[in-house]
Amino acid sequence: MTTKETLQQRVDTLLAAMTLEEKAGQLSQYFYLSGVTEPPEMAAQTEFLDSEIRAGRAGSLLFVSNPGETNRLQHIAVEESRLGIPLLFGFDVIHGLRTIFPVPLALAASWDPQLAEQVQTIAAREARAVGIHWAFAPMVDIARDPRWGRIVEGAGEDPYLGACMAAAQVRGFQGEALGSPDRIIAGPKHFIGYGAALGGRDYDEVNLSESELRNVYLPPFAAAVEAGAGNIMTSYVGINGVPGAADRQLITEVLRGELGFDGFLVSDANAVLDLITHRFARDDHDAATRAICAGLDMEMSFGVRSAEDFTLKLGAGAFATLPDAVRAGSVDEHLLDEAVKRVLLLKLRLGLFEHPYVDEERAKSTLNSPGHREIARIAAERSAVLLHNEGGVLPFDRSVVRSIAVIGPLADDKPATLGPWVFAHDLETTVTVLEGMRRVAGADMRVEYAPGVPTPKRRIPSPFAALEQQSADTAPQSAPFDEQAEFERAVELASSSDIAVLVLGEAPDMNGEGASRSTLDLPGRQLELLEAVAATGTPVILVLLSGRPLDLRCAAKQAAAILAAWHPGTEGGLAIARLLFGDATPGGKLPFSWPRSVGQVPLIYSHLRSHQPQTSSMRYWDEESTPLYPFGFGLTYGEVAYSNLTLHSTLIDLDDTLKVNVEVRNISSRPVEEVAQLYLHQRYGRAARPVRELKAFERIRLEPGETRTLPFEIPASARRYWSSAEGAYVLDPSTFDVWVGSASTAELHAEFLVQESTSEPPTALLN
Ligand code: BGC
Repeated sequence: MTTKETLQQRVDTLLAAMTLEEKAGQLSQYFYLSGVTEPPEMAAQTEFLDSEIRAGRAGSLLFVSNPGETNRLQHIAVEESRLGIPLLFGFDVIHGLRTIFPVPLALAASWDPQLAEQVQTIAAREARAVGIHWAFAPMVDIARDPRWGRIVEGAGEDPYLGACMAAAQVRGFQGEALGSPDRIIAGPKHFIGYGAALGGRDYDEVNLSESELRNVYLPPFAAAVEAGAGNIMTSYVGINGVPGAADRQLITEVLRGELGFDGFLVSDANAVLDLITHRFARDDHDAATRAICAGLDMEMSFGVRSAEDFTLKLGAGAFATLPDAVRAGSVDEHLLDEAVKRVLLLKLRLGLFEHPYVDEERAKSTLNSPGHREIARIAAERSAVLLHNEGGVLPFDRSVVRSIAVIGPLADDKPATLGPWVFAHDLETTVTVLEGMRRVAGADMRVEYAPGVPTPKRRIPSPFAALEQQSADTAPQSAPFDEQAEFERAVELASSSDIAVLVLGEAPDMNGEGASRSTLDLPGRQLELLEAVAATGTPVILVLLSGRPLDLRCAAKQAAAILAAWHPGTEGGLAIARLLFGDATPGGKLPFSWPRSVGQVPLIYSHLRSHQPQTSSMRYWDEESTPLYPFGFGLTYGEVAYSNLTLHSTLIDLDDTLKVNVEVRNISSRPVEEVAQLYLHQRYGRAARPVRELKAFERIRLEPGETRTLPFEIPASARRYWSSAEGAYVLDPSTFDVWVGSASTAELHAEFLVQESTSEPPTALLN
């Protein structure tokens, strides 16, 4: 075993041998988009980057996922560069590499951090096998506006759920410690506030108060740091006018100083050069200088530069100017050294100097492990949220349902089953809902398919269109589509079947980056199709594939059941079929408040109480102001009852932990999957606090008639918050309400009083 000291010594020895150019090189990461011809500059990039690596001017690459290619590039770095420092390969391992898991928003809907950890453990294993060392994940941005396409990449609206999911995923990627075998570095992103873009428009400006920043947006980052994240990515956007890559106050004072982050910080793509585009930096010297002085360690660069007229040309990133900046005295070399040390230390801890290459044969078997697919199916089953189930139409009763019409453009759409942010997947072996239904229904049930309407299209192409083109050789070619005939065929099929399963929602390029929407409508003619099918009288089961809530006001009136299945991944279709047939039990809960219409957003459950709480559901004269489905909501097959909410004491000291017990009973004849949720509310203090805030939860399974007593511990830190009045974190003596139940609307209630401590609270609670 190499001790920390010897690693540190090796870092110092290497550093002492490095030129300024080589130091800047270790802080420069380049996109490696070999094969992408759009824009044409990318095609010429291979040659340019090979020579940068050889010269020691590139220390990290992103977007290589082919083991032969990572080995080829690593050979150049190790054998042909002066110091032989291996490259660090990063990649967007967002919800799997080859085995694709449900999108992160779906994983959050499982309310099962252990599952999220397991999923990212597998993603790390597959990534490491092909030579990837670092995931640009998890995305821990709180997202409260579903128009923002990137809501799909995070854990939704809540800081506590977000923090639990963030920490779990960091543990999954990294394992016990950085450098664990088969694990990679986690890179939580985007620090910070990206999800608050005005109007839900990706990349638009963000204006956040300090209290919102600290009480809502910071906790998932704090949890990720606490879990040991080795990297953090800064945000494209600037909060209150200061772009993320150069916000010294936030990255150095808050992230490193207050939260104690000791890994390395990377910019988002081209975000250092874009300090100029933002009208923040004067030129690339100024941009690089201000970023490194703010505390950024590494620049992620396209390797193509955008001129004032938005044309692109091949070239180094802004950090290539750092050697001159040091020589000119505008940057202290010590700053570069500290950043380089952080990067080298990680390369050493990952064992890259000893084992720079991967075994290409082993990579093949790791990528195709059936065990990985099994977890993907379980994850999809645990992520689905049953929103509506009239008269217990689900699960199907096999003695009644003899024929099923599977309808809708997404029912046999492999990319929509996988969702956005997949680049190294296997489309061929992706199980669609249609295939899953056929497999689970068995030979004696009739399952027929009609798409009904074409797959919905974006008005403008996705910014990822060029990358998607790369894997287009495996994508199905779309056949000519007779819209009228197909629509009629689908309706006819529904009328001659016992049940219609409609698989509707969003194509994968409709969410993710650059995929904001101005409405939450079902895109294209999908609602019309649903209405026509429902008019036949055949019960409709709506299976929704999406990365955000959609406007279901009409659909909820027409469908007998609705299952939000998100983009469920490689085994998604099988998981959905097993849920519909009752071979698996739904138990997911919403990680956001599901709005009735786009006009309500942003809509959150943890809002402040107004002076007129009695009219809070009447804020609009034309629509209710409550959500269609509340945060934390989700049905199961069966019913639970909560009782006996007890607190260990109704009077506690400021720094005391509250112990809560509650009984949960399965009062039905089927097993249930339930997430017990605990919410807190502070009645008065140094700032008004939200009407409810999630503070604990546990996902459980109960057999028919089974009762469990769940213990929850609510530490004093759960009552700590940032008060604008004080400009500090505070703990208030106050009266608190506590609710426990199935959703954020839980009614089982108790209250307790927090009094000034007889002794001083530990300083850790106040800083
Ligand atoms: C995104 C990041 C991503 C990076 C590399 C950027 O456009 O904002 O989340 O990790 O690209 O693909």
